Amino acid sequence: MPRHLDHWTLLGCGALGGVLAGLLAEAGNQVSLLRTNDAEVRLPLQLSWWDLQGHEHHFEPDFLQTKDAANIRLLLVTTKAYQVQSALEPLIGQLPSATPILLLHNGMGTESWVRRAFPDNPLLLMVTSNGALRLGSEAFRHTGAGETWIGPANAAARAWQPLAELLARALPHAGWSEAIHHKQWEKLVINAVINPLTALSGERNGSLLQRQDEVEALCEELLPLLQRHGLSGDLAYWRDKVLQVARLTADNYSSMQQDLACGRPSEIDFITGFVLREAQEAKLHLPLHQQLYQAIKAKETP
Ligand code: NAP
Ligand code: PAF
Repeated sequence: MPRHLDHWTLLGCGALGGVLAGLLAEAGNQVSLLRTNDAEVRLPLQLSWWDLQGHEHHFEPDFLQTKDAANIRLLLVTTKAYQVQSALEPLIGQLPSATPILLLHNGMGTESWVRRAFPDNPLLLMVTSNGALRLGSEAFRHTGAGETWIGPANAAARAWQPLAELLARALPHAGWSEAIHHKQWEKLVINAVINPLTALSGERNGSLLQRQDEVEALCEELLPLLQRHGLSGDLAYWRDKVLQVARLTADNYSSMQQDLACGRPSEIDFITGFVLREAQEAKLHLPLHQQLYQAIKAKETP
């Protein structure tokens, strides 16, 4: 088993990173928070987080900067997808090549750049349906239990399977998946349907239960692409999967709805944009997803 398994460095301490940092620290791991941009950190700093039962927890993480990269043994990247490249770029040539990089974000499409930039590092992908909220710069809430999957994106990552066990001690329902790209695609379908529809309507996820025809049409358009990537479910399978998430998160606003409502960039280029790039490569035409992409882009850029 590789050493230093229990010293995690998190790059991106927002809603999800803050809650993961808290859960990992609570389970006995050493947690450091890394900043690779110029944003100021006021020290000493205590982070607060609330668990699913509403209990308050506190912990004091170490803070690292780019100059500390040589000491990082395990790097978990929890920025937004569109921040991955700018957040990791300063670490090129600084991060030890034996240090595993774990990417955790909605959407797909960052992996190829990370592979090129860090060709020798073990690269792992994570997918989670846990929910987290940022209450302030130093306060976070775990808002929803879910599954977390971790799996290898290159051969060097296979030695790091014990990380799944370690994660499972900190998070409910965490496991290792050799088919991590399938897990990513499953989440991508959910995000490609729920996020743009709710971001455009400004409504909660549950509103899609009244728009089942649109959900079905968007799923249908994705079927040939999903089959090409080895995902075998039929239309009923994908429609029901999306509607089940809409039902389970009926009272929530999707992340894209919240991003647009707050004037932040959305992750559309890594969700629908990624789907469209893959479709183009396969010579598939996805007019409904194309329309959603353009509508979100128009709303995103004033
Ligand atoms: P978030 O709250 O915006 O967190 C991203 C964090 O990354 C921010 O704190 C940001 O800091 C930080 N960051 C960006 N560049 C950095 C850098 N160079 N150095 C250090 N920190 C940097 O977003 P989130 O909700 O946690 O989501 C993160 C990812 O997880 C997204 O892809 C999201 O879709 C996915 N996800 C989220 C949830 C959830 O419930 N929140 C659930 C599942 C998946 P600044 O604020 O200073 O820019
Ligand atoms: O991005 C989101 O908001 C979430 O991934 C999901 C599953 C769509 C629930 O809101």
